[in-house]
Amino acid sequence: MDKIKILGVSGSPRKNGNTDILLDSFLKGSESVGAETKMIFLRNYSIESCIGCEACRKAGKCTQFHDGMELLYPEIEESKGLILGSPTYNYNVTAEMKAFIDRLYPFYEFTEERPGPYSSKLADQGRKALVFTVCEQVKAEEMGFTLEALGMPLEALGYGIFDKFLATGCFSKGEVLKDRDILKKAFEAGKKLAVGLK
Ligand SMILES: Cc1cc2nc3c(=O)[nH]c(=O)nc-3n(C[C@H](O)[C@H](O)[C@H](O)COP(=O)(O)O)c2cc1C
Repeated sequence: MDKIKILGVSGSPRKNGNTDILLDSFLKGSESVGAETKMIFLRNYSIESCIGCEACRKAGKCTQFHDGMELLYPEIEESKGLILGSPTYNYNVTAEMKAFIDRLYPFYEFTEERPGPYSSKLADQGRKALVFTVCEQVKAEEMGFTLEALGMPLEALGYGIFDKFLATGCFSKGEVLKDRDILKKAFEAGKKLAVGLK
């Protein structure tokens, strides 16, 4: 039987920061039960912002840009599990993560009706996603919309949201390493995601 593939996507511009560290813990947990994982850092890819030309509605793919997304579309299709993590920036995801999410638009299948129903090429395949954020503040309202901004588009694309995970009180680069408890929780959540995908 083929191994379950899980793709981990970090939207942090800060190399080896809290998002990268937590993502590594999630993926280590998934690997511990036999999943094949891959971690990618959006900061290492050139990803243009969607310009809303709507050409992908007919073409079924992005015809405007030939950039880093061409490398990521196949990775997404091949991975039944997806882990998206972004630090909270101004109550929301980072610009890197927003550009990535908007460029998932070619996965939709639209009708000509306005406003019309839509479906997704990724739906009904048992795909599951885990989303997480890291932020400095400890009050939930200081995190703003980050978890919704990560989770809602994935739900629309047909993923079951397996978990929404939050690490508060982390400001400095690598600070999350001091919190063994949250790292352990991330490991366990990654493990559960992989088991849930089997
Ligand atoms: C531009 C910017 C905006 C931020 N906005 C918020 C915020 O709205 N709420 C919050 O709690 N932390 C905020 N932070 C703090 C980061 O979320 C925090 O430092 C996080 O640990 C960074 O994750 P990283 O190490 O993976 O990059 C902000 C940081 C930056 C640089």
